[in-house]
Amino acid sequence: MTTKININGDIQDEASISILDHGFLFGDSIYEVVCTNRGKPCFLDEHLNRLYASASGISLKIPHGAENIKKQIQATLDSAGNTESYIRIIVTRGVGEMDIDPSSCFNPNIIIFVKGIPQISEESYAKGIAVALVSIKRNSRDSLNPAVKTGNYLNNVLARVEAQKMGAEDAIMVNPWGQLTEGTTSNLFFVKDGRILTPEKECGILSGITREKIIQLALENGMTLEEGKWPGEELFKAEEIFLSGTVKKVMPVSILDNRPVGEGKPGPITRKIMRLYSELLDSLNQA
Ligand code: PDD
Repeated sequence: MTTKININGDIQDEASISILDHGFLFGDSIYEVVCTNRGKPCFLDEHLNRLYASASGISLKIPHGAENIKKQIQATLDSAGNTESYIRIIVTRGVGEMDIDPSSCFNPNIIIFVKGIPQISEESYAKGIAVALVSIKRNSRDSLNPAVKTGNYLNNVLARVEAQKMGAEDAIMVNPWGQLTEGTTSNLFFVKDGRILTPEKECGILSGITREKIIQLALENGMTLEEGKWPGEELFKAEEIFLSGTVKKVMPVSILDNRPVGEGKPGPITRKIMRLYSELLDSLNQA
């Protein structure tokens, strides 16, 4: 698999940025992760809409329109020539003074990173993964709003480290009021009394593109799905848990804090959502 990096329109095999870029210094940047599906960037319009919304969330003006970014993505994909690619679009505040004030940064850097899609083991999908409900809190919406996809992921990094110390692969975080939010790079769904439950946006989450598709699929297929607020402890009563995200798609969770979730294997509702989502992807880009 080939890696190509496009920095402000220049496509290279390797690239570096200035240490004076505020993206590097302060995490003052935004990003999106898109995967290709049959060679085409999947749900690209949705991801670019969120990229521009994130830019506006940190008062950053992206110097190009979405059409230009789409062209650059395509040029980078063509240059890499992979069958399927992982695409990371990063817009940094740019180079400025070594001071948090962004007003010295005049030129945002637009970086499009293309590589092969990270392989997730079939075993994980078949058996489910282990997660931990960690003590690190998801940021409240009135601090660094989780709805804005910034390059400042230290909160999530700390949550992941805590989960790993607890022997889990990933972390689920609650907000400062103890309500369930999301995973470190994924959204959370759980099943109780046969109903699919997922934390609402007000809890402080990134409104995932995969999450939105799953909600739509569940409702179209007559499943009961509720968005709401639930305390962290509610997760221990779940019959099933799954996570959603661009890279992992729909990932079953079979262990929570070293205890089995339901029967300790992906349950019927999770498997149905996995199938529906996979069928949705199969239906895209068909000739
Ligand atoms: N992460 N929540 C968080 C905190 C995320 O970082 C992500 C995505 C999601 C799921 O969003 P989507 O379905 O649009 O991918 C939820 C990407 C994949 C990442 O940072 O690698």
